[in-house]
Amino acid sequence: MISETCIAPVNIAVIKYWGKRDEELILPINSSLSMTLSTDQMCAKTTAAASATFKENRMWLNGEEVPFEGNPRMQKCLDALKRLAEAEKSKRFPLEWKLHICSENNFPTAAGLASSAAGYACLVYTLANLYGVEKSELSSIARQGSGSACRSIYGGFVEWVAGIKNDGSDSIAIQVQPALHWPEMRVLILVVNDSRKKTSSTNGMLNSVNTSDLIKHRANVCVPQRILQIKEAIARKDFKTFGEITMRDSNQFHAICLDTYPPCAYMNDTSHAIVNFIHQYNETRGDVKVAYTFDAGPNACLYLLEEEVANVLSLLNKVFPNDNSENSEYVKGIPIDLQKVRPA
Ligand code: DP6
Repeated sequence: MISETCIAPVNIAVIKYWGKRDEELILPINSSLSMTLSTDQMCAKTTAAASATFKENRMWLNGEEVPFEGNPRMQKCLDALKRLAEAEKSKRFPLEWKLHICSENNFPTAAGLASSAAGYACLVYTLANLYGVEKSELSSIARQGSGSACRSIYGGFVEWVAGIKNDGSDSIAIQVQPALHWPEMRVLILVVNDSRKKTSSTNGMLNSVNTSDLIKHRANVCVPQRILQIKEAIARKDFKTFGEITMRDSNQFHAICLDTYPPCAYMNDTSHAIVNFIHQYNETRGDVKVAYTFDAGPNACLYLLEEEVANVLSLLNKVFPNDNSENSEYVKGIPIDLQKVRPA
């Protein structure tokens, strides 16, 4: 038996991916940009083993067995990696050997906390190590597991370039700035509700592409401008511009969810109260000091600089006291000590 274990971090988009132009290859209608978090507090960990004695491919997610052969995305990633292993003439073990894969997240799955991003990035990286694939670009394979997963292959600030080719060969993730470029940057994740979301991102974005009028304007006009502006802001370490673009993009993404028919409301009353709190905080401080962003769920991700963390956390605890109920909890600050996927 031969096995490998790797960990992969979560990434949180500041310019959101929402909408596919090709469902099969997972090609997006717009580029997106994210930051990859530290693996210390939020990550996926995967162990993959291959053996001549295994009768079938099997997979366990957070301790429960999940169907493998019936999962087309998983199958696609596996097939692509086997083709690469063949092309690179890797000979670690016979390619017909079956696999057993165990994966776990140390944070809520499918609650809008980018679990599929870390999960598929980790799966692809672990299998690449197992098969001895070394020279190939892995983000385009992770992308075929879950679009946002391609960004978790790299650390730091990462752009998923939408690309224009039909075969998806130019739809890859690239690192815009390394982790150490902005070491003062922090993220606070506020878990408003950790239960599974009602409409998955995959279904939500498909409905938006089919029914929203606003989505075309966002993808064709707003996002290309924002990507350029935010990359400049990151290069200059200009938090004010970075924060404003992040908040505007989150707001526009959720406006598109509401413009979807029937509408898809991911944010709840607490999410909106957090938005108001952040705007009031920034107003009092006379500058943009904290920025919020919400994925396809009610939980907030706050971007802020280190110097602001203590103040914001103590105010948050006062304004939104943790009531210790099952679904209400605040996760403490997660410093963005940015890392790429790596062997555990
Ligand atoms: C709101 O990557 O989960 O988090 O490609 O269908 O698997 P699929 O979708 P997924 O969508 C993520 C959407 C988002 C925004 C983002 O991460 O950019």
